[in-house]
Amino acid sequence: MFILAATGSAVGLGNVWRFPYLAGENGGGAFVLTYIFCVLAFGLPILMAEILLGRRGRRNPVNTLRALATEEGCSPGWAGLGVMGIAAGFMILSFYSVVGGWTLGYLQVAWQGWGPDGGAQTFESLLASPWRLLLLHTLFMAMTTGVVLLGVQEGLERSVRFLMPALFLLLLILDGYAIAVGDFRRGLEYLFRPDFGRLFEEGPDGMLRAMGQAFFSLSLGMGAIMAYSSYLPARASIPRTAAWIVAADTLVAMIAGLAIFPLLFAYGLDPAQGPGLIFNVLPIAFAQMPFGQIFGLLFFLLLVFAALSSSISLLEPAVAWLVENRRLGRVRAACIAGATAWFLGIGSLLSFNAWQSYTLFGRTYFDCMDYLTSNIMLPLGGVLIAVFAGWRMAAASTREELHLPDGAVYAAWRFIIRYLAPAGVLIV
Ligand code: TRP
Repeated sequence: MFILAATGSAVGLGNVWRFPYLAGENGGGAFVLTYIFCVLAFGLPILMAEILLGRRGRRNPVNTLRALATEEGCSPGWAGLGVMGIAAGFMILSFYSVVGGWTLGYLQVAWQGWGPDGGAQTFESLLASPWRLLLLHTLFMAMTTGVVLLGVQEGLERSVRFLMPALFLLLLILDGYAIAVGDFRRGLEYLFRPDFGRLFEEGPDGMLRAMGQAFFSLSLGMGAIMAYSSYLPARASIPRTAAWIVAADTLVAMIAGLAIFPLLFAYGLDPAQGPGLIFNVLPIAFAQMPFGQIFGLLFFLLLVFAALSSSISLLEPAVAWLVENRRLGRVRAACIAGATAWFLGIGSLLSFNAWQSYTLFGRTYFDCMDYLTSNIMLPLGGVLIAVFAGWRMAAASTREELHLPDGAVYAAWRFIIRYLAPAGVLIV
C-alpha cells in the first residue's frame, strides 16, 4: 500500500506535463541527463532518508522531526523543517490544482471532439478565460479535498493499482504512434543527445531547473513522503521501496517525453513554448489518430487520476498536522487546508490573463510559485533532511531503520547523505 501511495504521489503532472515542457525550454538532452543524474545521485539517497525519518517518527512531519531530534539529543528546532514543508506543500498544491484544472478542461474538450486541427486555439482560449479557469481549479481542489477528507486508503489504492498502469499503457500507445507518424529520430536525439551549450544558454539556471524537477517529480523535500512513510510497516525494505519509486517515476517521465517530442517536431511546433506544451501537442495527435477521441478522453481522464493521487500527498501533511496538533476533525482540517491552497491558487490562474503583466524578476505569480518551491524550497528541504539523517542521527539509528548490514551499501549511502548530496545540491 505504501509503495502504491508513494508511487501515486510521485507520478503525476510532474512527469507528463512539467518534465516535457522544462526539457523543451532548456534545450533537451543535457537537461534530461542532468535531471537523471540528480535523481540518482541526490534523489534516491534523500528519498531513502525521508522514508526512514517518517517511519521512525510515525507522526506528521513537524512532530516526527521534533520527536527524532529530541531522541537523538539535538534541538527541537528541527521541527521548523516540517513547517517549511507544509508551507511548500500549500504553495505547490495551489498551482498544481490550476494545471489539474486544465486537465479537467481538456476532458470536456475531448468529449466535444478535437476538431480537424486539434483545436489550435483551445489552450489559448482556455487561458484567456479566468472564470472558466477558476471553475476548473475549484473543481480540482474540491476533488483533492474530498479524497483527503474521506480518508485516502481505498480510493487511492484502486486508483494507483489500476489506473496508473492504464496511463502507462496509454503513454506506450502514444509512443507507438509517435514512432509511426512522428519524427522519432529527431525526438530521440533531442531528448538524449547532450548539448550543454543549450542547457547553459540562459546561464546556469537550466541546471537548477533540472535539479528542481528531480525533487518535484519524486515528491521530495517537503514531507509528503515522510507523512506517507509514517504508516510503513517496520519489516518493509526502505532501499528497495525507494528504488522502485525512483524507477517508476523516471520511466513514466521518459515515455512521456518520447511521445511528445517526435510528434512536436513532426508538427513543426516550438519545443520551448512553456507550460502549454502537452496541451498544444497532444490534441493534434488525438485529432489525427484512429479512435483519437476515445484515446484522448481516456488519456486526460487517467491524467486527472494521476494528478489527484499526487495532489492529495501535497495536502496530507498539513491535514495531519491540523488533526494531530490543532485537534481538528479530519473533515474540518481538510476543508481549511484545501480552501487555503485554493485561495493561493487564484493568483496562479490570473497570471495567464489579468495579472500577466505583474511580474517579479520577469516572472509571473505562477512562475514565482513554481520557481520558489521546486528550485529553492524542495532542494533546501532535501539538504536539511540529508543533514539531519547524516549528521544528527546516530549511524546505528539509520542503519537499523534501513535494515542494512554494516557494509559497502550502507557506507555508500551514508557518505552520499553526509557529503555528496548536501554539497552537490547546495552548489547547484
Ligand atoms: N511529484 C508529483 C508529480 O510529479 C507532484 C507532487 C506530489 C509533489 N507531492 C509532492 C512535488 C511533494 C513536490 C513535493 O506530479
